[in-house]
Amino acid sequence: MEKYVIKGGNPLVGEVEIGGAKNAALAILAAATMTDETVYIDNMPDESDTNAMLQAIASTGAFVERTGRHSVKINASQIHNYTIEDYIKKIRASYYLLGALLGKYKQAGVVLPSGCNIGLRPIDQHIKGFTALGAKVNIEHGIIDARAQALVGSHIYLDVVSVGATINIMMAASMAEGKTIIENAAKEPHVVDFANFLNSMGANIKGAGTDVIRIKGVERLHGTEYTIIPDQIEAGTFMLAAAATKGDITIKNVIPKHLESISAKLIEMGCQIHESDDAVRVVATRRLQNTHVKTLPYPGYPTDMQPQITVALGLASGISIVTESIFENRFKYVDELTRMGASIKVEGSTAIIEGVDKYTGAVVSAPDLRAGAALVIAALTAEGYSTIEDIKYIERGYEDFDQKLRDLGAIIEKVDDDKEIQKFKLKNA
Ligand code: EPZ
Repeated sequence: MEKYVIKGGNPLVGEVEIGGAKNAALAILAAATMTDETVYIDNMPDESDTNAMLQAIASTGAFVERTGRHSVKINASQIHNYTIEDYIKKIRASYYLLGALLGKYKQAGVVLPSGCNIGLRPIDQHIKGFTALGAKVNIEHGIIDARAQALVGSHIYLDVVSVGATINIMMAASMAEGKTIIENAAKEPHVVDFANFLNSMGANIKGAGTDVIRIKGVERLHGTEYTIIPDQIEAGTFMLAAAATKGDITIKNVIPKHLESISAKLIEMGCQIHESDDAVRVVATRRLQNTHVKTLPYPGYPTDMQPQITVALGLASGISIVTESIFENRFKYVDELTRMGASIKVEGSTAIIEGVDKYTGAVVSAPDLRAGAALVIAALTAEGYSTIEDIKYIERGYEDFDQKLRDLGAIIEKVDDDKEIQKFKLKNA
């Protein structure tokens, strides 16, 4: 099992290039099956989640060709399998194939999604949306099946702001008869990017990025060429890595507007932020100051950036409070961080953090994607050596994470076994 071994203590300095947004890519890849014409997608991140989605799409009978590391060509005219069980068991976004195939073929089945274990993660709002459009949805033998004689536009009020439900309903409604209105819609950058993609295929979606999305169904969608937006969370992770290691990183190929809630917190914590058109530089020269953070749907502070800021606040002066309001089980990494010397008490959805002077290296395990990245940041600041196990979670959503960190001066290697860890320690003694 691959692990990262890290020697901490180096401030991260330099430039890093951000890739395409994983959570936009997953939805966009699924929606590429909604036309018989060819779709070309660029700036696609090469990560295990996006690769699993591509395999799942190929298993439907669609033609999938990687034309480069970050570009793919999909032609779905030969789809013959509408129930997908392979490749996507572990990826949450498998449910996007439900919206896509239901929209185009009026029938779809996927294994019930699991994904990162960060909470209950119900899909009732997806089902509510599909049902409102006229589909019958059944769950049997671990498969969620949706089918309809015809889909008809509807007025849907989401009970909770859900990225997945908003995107899934947009897909199905795009090929329904008549108009659909989604109220209390999610406004995340990848929701907007997804709507732009579908519109480039001939869909008629207005209002993405606001609470109310209006969709006029069309009979058919056509081929397109599309470039995915930069990954807000990958960028944010490097911003927090700069802050926690007292470094100076210029994060390139980003949309600074998408990072505002993170920049605002870093300024409160005493970092300097310099924005240009498509880059953000984070400079941290002194000990971070405490602050309070509450995760919220966009434009609030993202839940996917909660573990990373908790790690940084664990080193800040004073007491900080972090409240997780999206997923109820997203503090599991705190036990691991405590073994590195953090002083954090979790009560329900709140973490009370008493900043310590330093972390110390330890063997820890990544409980999920973002928490795994956060533990890497902690290890980069820590005194001595750390081993991060279960990096398969990190590789779901960060491309070349270790290489990008090495380019910023981090001492980190991906290793297979204890022998290689010993070698690393000797080399970096
Ligand atoms: C997306 O998950 C992302 N995943 C998550 O990123 C991200 O954490 C999350 O949005 C919030 O921003 C993908 O895009 C593939 P939600 P999603 O539906 O769509 C509740 C990462 O690390 N809810 O917006 O599954 C739900 O329990 C991952 O990259 C319902 O109650 O999240 C949660 O409390 C992890 N019923 C809240 O809504 C539903 O039917 C928001 O969830 C759907 C959701």
